[in-house]
Amino acid sequence: MGFNKVTDTILYVGVNDHQVDLFEGQYDVPNGMAYNSYVIKDEKTAVMDTTDAHFTQEWLDNVAAALDGAKPDYLVVQHMEPDHSASIEKFLAVYPEAVVVGNAKTFAMMEQFFGAGIAPNRLVVKNGETLSLGSRELTFVFAPMVHWPEVMVTYDAKDKVLFSADGFGKFGALDAEEGWACEARRYYFGIVGKYGPQVQMLLKKAATLDIQIICPLHGPVLSENLGYYLDLYNTWSSYGVESDGVMIAYTSVYGNTKKAAQLLADKLKAKGCPKVVFTDLARDDMAEAVEDAFRYGKLVLATTTYNADIFPFMRTFIEHLVERNYQNRTIGLIENGTWAATAAKVMKGMFEKSKNITWLNTTVTVKSAMTAENEAQLDAMADELI
Ligand code: FEO
Repeated sequence: MGFNKVTDTILYVGVNDHQVDLFEGQYDVPNGMAYNSYVIKDEKTAVMDTTDAHFTQEWLDNVAAALDGAKPDYLVVQHMEPDHSASIEKFLAVYPEAVVVGNAKTFAMMEQFFGAGIAPNRLVVKNGETLSLGSRELTFVFAPMVHWPEVMVTYDAKDKVLFSADGFGKFGALDAEEGWACEARRYYFGIVGKYGPQVQMLLKKAATLDIQIICPLHGPVLSENLGYYLDLYNTWSSYGVESDGVMIAYTSVYGNTKKAAQLLADKLKAKGCPKVVFTDLARDDMAEAVEDAFRYGKLVLATTTYNADIFPFMRTFIEHLVERNYQNRTIGLIENGTWAATAAKVMKGMFEKSKNITWLNTTVTVKSAMTAENEAQLDAMADELI
């Protein structure tokens, strides 16, 4: 693959992964994944992060092509998760004189992954410290929990570039033809969604910098219309509502709960709801469902009573939401139970600690199959949602 120019002196040396089955062990990535890395060429040369273990040689070849015979002076490690850090040891075997740049937490993790002898030439930086490469200085800004505690981002004031680590990343290899927002949102809420306040802190720091280009560790380099990406990140990390509409997430064993959910969807559309998202939690992508729950302001959950609890896919879905600090939303409940229906109570209880949840007045209880009374309740629920 070689390298691509980001600027005259910043070269992209990352790789595309079309072999990954589940990214980070759980996310379907139908269009693969990109592990980004960059070489900054100045009087001194810095390599920004490494790559996943399956692509070490391809990445080393890219780095060598970009260096064009030069030796790298620094390897900057912004994030120790192995999709970016797995090739550190092999990089140092090729370039043993390179100084590895990280913070105290970076090196503690590096020693856990590779042993205490890793990176004998190291530069331990503190938050806000700078490293001169000659005509430019790199400033290291700590961004703990975006996505791990050691994460730092790097600002190059000369080229006005923010190396943003996992921030502003997305699923999908760089040769995939797809828009940015959908897979960036699925990535954000899946991976960083819990850490909204930490992302907000990073955005506040970023607002003080003149940024013309964002170089993330996944997804494309962003160099146009940066306000669009920053605005979306601000909405996502503040748990704001991005799009007007209702998400209906359901599970159904014999189709009766689905019928109730479908009737609600039909009623909402008939009443002019701008967008209705209809998701079968047993069959549709769970990360996509999580993304949609955070995208829209209104959510209806429909499930069966099961083992005196709720159907497992619904339990998993709500757990995903709650652990990512789901908040500031309106929720309605549809339950089904042939005897002792308890699903609505269980679902509501699961959001007990969630902030700023508004519950619809109407809760629909289906006993086995829908009745005319249920239909009227669903009509009332639709009216409340509109
Ligand atoms: Fe792309 Fe948190 O690693």
